[in-house]
Amino acid sequence: MNNFRFCSPTEFVFGRNTVKNTAQLIKKYGGTKVLILYGGRSAVKSGLLAEVEGNLQNEFIEYVKLGGVQPNPVDTLVYEGIELCRKEQVNFILAIGGGSVIDTAKAIAAGTPYAGDFWNFFERTVAINRALPVATILTIPAAGSEGSENTVITKTKGGLKRGTGSPALRPVFSIMDPVLTFTLPANQTAYGITDMMAHVMERYFTQTKEVEVTDRLCEAILLAVIQEAPRVLQEPDNYEARANIMWASTMAHNGICGVGREEDWATHGLEHELSALYGIAHGAGLAVMFPAWMQYVYTSGIDRFVQFAVRVWGIENVGDKKEIAGKGIQALKNFFISMGLPVDFAALGAKAADIDRLIETLKINSGGSLGNFCKLDMNDARAIYEIAAGLRGCN
Ligand code: NZQ
Ligand code: ZN
Repeated sequence: MNNFRFCSPTEFVFGRNTVKNTAQLIKKYGGTKVLILYGGRSAVKSGLLAEVEGNLQNEFIEYVKLGGVQPNPVDTLVYEGIELCRKEQVNFILAIGGGSVIDTAKAIAAGTPYAGDFWNFFERTVAINRALPVATILTIPAAGSEGSENTVITKTKGGLKRGTGSPALRPVFSIMDPVLTFTLPANQTAYGITDMMAHVMERYFTQTKEVEVTDRLCEAILLAVIQEAPRVLQEPDNYEARANIMWASTMAHNGICGVGREEDWATHGLEHELSALYGIAHGAGLAVMFPAWMQYVYTSGIDRFVQFAVRVWGIENVGDKKEIAGKGIQALKNFFISMGLPVDFAALGAKAADIDRLIETLKINSGGSLGNFCKLDMNDARAIYEIAAGLRGCN
């Protein structure tokens, strides 16, 4: 096990009717002038935005609003938000929504007190040391941004989708009422489930030895998600199933699943190029890229893939290791298919002819290499895209 530091300071306020605590929590964390940030329609349609506004008004907390965050959020709204926060002297940001809204809130929070261009943080030429406090009311369990220190934004010019992070970006509190997720359509629910599983798997597939506690935590979260996923898809109003899925998304990405080990993140790098180019949902891209990545790298750490097959998918640990590992990968693929997700380029609407473009932006974003479980260069990345496109078989 490697040395580590782990600090997840977010106050999670979980359960039914927890939105009524919003104003009180904002006061607790020093907010006096708030930017309420939200997405396209869902928070308005559900009445959540109005409820939050009422709650703040009752407690005499001043606020301004900015809506219109789109999925795969872009830099233009971040610039708009920074300008608004400076003009209105905002000292607290409340994000109502999912990863896209929360990530935009984090970028605005870091950019407002910074004199330069906020994109420098995403170029990683400047570290984020200071940010306005961010809080969230989560409406879709997926990205885990409600508990993470990360933000992912796309620069409109050039279509570069990039992530950055800092402890300063961890939300001070996150309100998580599973009832708010009842309105999620099946496809968004499934994309979210895929993303949280991917966040666990990016950490599970490691070459670091002897990390049994972290391994078992990862497996427990995956097993719980695999159990609850069909339930939540069949019964979108099932509170308990929604609650378990919601908490899983946070546990998957607040960092606890990565302690003591080297993490991978190659698949996220490969996927971000797809969602940047086609505007598809991040979770849909991951359902295609994760099995493709696994098929390419599994021989670089066969025992880990056998462990995944046996402990997560219940494959019998008898016979050839490659065969057992292959069955685990196939089980994951079948699970994605059972949720109606795409598992190849064709189903995703991606084109093999675009692989050169994907590699071009991946090279810029990754600096030419990615991953740790197996160090990948751009030839490897091309091969994985080709597996996803059905142009070649697995290793
Ligand atoms: O815009 P509205 O109308 O709100 O609709 C949203 C959006 O269309 C809808 N939605 C959200 N809550 C709903 C709802 N619809 C009905 N009922 C509700 N309760 O869902 C759609 C997707 O929302 P979005 O926020 O885009 O989803 P998600 O949470 O999956 O976030 C995806 C973004 O997060 C990034 C992804 O790359 C992508 O840009 N990620 C961020 C990470 C992080 N900050 O740590 C890590 C992840 O790996 C990921 O890369
Ligand atoms: Zn993700």
